[in-house]
Amino acid sequence: MPLLRPALMNNTEVADDLTIKNRIDSDETFDIYSLEDDKGYLYLFKNLEKNNIINSRHRYKVIYLDTFYGKRPAVIDPEYSRKIQEKIRKELTELVGLDSVAGMKELKELLINEVINPLLNPEKYVKFKLGIPNGILLYGPPGCGKTYIVRKLAEELGYNYVEVKASDIGSSYIHGSVEKISRVFDRARSLSPSILFFDEIEGLVPNRDNLGETGSYKQEEVNQFLAEMNKSGEENVLVVGATNRPNLIDNAVLRSGRFDRRIFISPPDFEARKELFKLYISGRPFSNKINYGKLAELTENYVSSDIELIVEDAARLAVRNDLSEIDEALLESVIRNMIPSVSREDLDYFKNVGDSK
Ligand SMILES: Nc1ncnc2c1ncn2[C@@H]1O[C@H](COP(=O)(O)OP(=O)(O)OP(=O)(O)O)[C@@H](O)[C@H]1O
Ligand SMILES: [Mg+2]
Repeated sequence: MPLLRPALMNNTEVADDLTIKNRIDSDETFDIYSLEDDKGYLYLFKNLEKNNIINSRHRYKVIYLDTFYGKRPAVIDPEYSRKIQEKIRKELTELVGLDSVAGMKELKELLINEVINPLLNPEKYVKFKLGIPNGILLYGPPGCGKTYIVRKLAEELGYNYVEVKASDIGSSYIHGSVEKISRVFDRARSLSPSILFFDEIEGLVPNRDNLGETGSYKQEEVNQFLAEMNKSGEENVLVVGATNRPNLIDNAVLRSGRFDRRIFISPPDFEARKELFKLYISGRPFSNKINYGKLAELTENYVSSDIELIVEDAARLAVRNDLSEIDEALLESVIRNMIPSVSREDLDYFKNVGDSK
């Protein structure tokens, strides 16, 4: 392959007192230059533009340089390797862990203080006689990020992640699901530290008041579940349940104290909707005149998954109509044509449940 022309010339001053010496490595997507006076290396990303840069942890300072290919982002690092290039690129363009959860500031703070820090620094908490969470229950209306947040929590913790849908465990014969419950706990233990996530948990441990005949064998499942959950904390398995029908969960499970944190995942508020739009638009070609506040205003009763869908639809329309980018008018027209997926009544119901916590 012919060597591509360097994006920057030797002797270019890229910042105060930092001058390019020469290019030491490159491919189609990057150039790496050494800097004069051993001041480190400049990693220049030829195929990235301002729109592609997220850099949410701000671990790198990004400078935008006028290059042969146009304005391109670059980062200075004291070391040189291709591995570092990959690491910087990932860091600049991808969101990880809680950073990829838009909005929900209070929720993130709560997770950091009450879940992440205690799990990652248990000695400190034990010393002050504070408990380490054993189980968390997330509840709230559909499409507001319960499942999504648990996955991101696992990523943030660096834990393995085992996800189980209650409907996968439900068994038509009596002792089948009791066994299956032990098996998923075993699996989570073998992967510890891990998060064992029961999605739609009301299906696994349903409120027996509503079950009539089938109630008695559900008792066995509930007992098994509680027994397994008892020891999970010590074994570095964090049990997380999610439901959009908290009232259908078995009372004993709720009372037992094993789900010691119950967290309401609310529909996105104004700020969160603004951030959701930004998040889903980033990485796609978009106009820099988009008014995110206006989009957030127009989507008052929409949940997170609706906003994801709105942006996706706008992107699809942009392609179909051969537009160069997603703009405000396009997004507004998609919003006007889309009905919120969760009804007003359902949202109101959850508002009340959330408040009475
Ligand atoms: N805070 C958020 N930031 C970014 N994306 C989000 C956020 N909340 C939700 N989403 C997006 O919305 C989609 C729906 O969220 P998710 O499936 O987690 O909802 P849920 O609460 O589990 O719904 P259900 O009760 O129907 O299972 C996800 O695919 C995710 O991409
Ligand atoms: Mg879900």
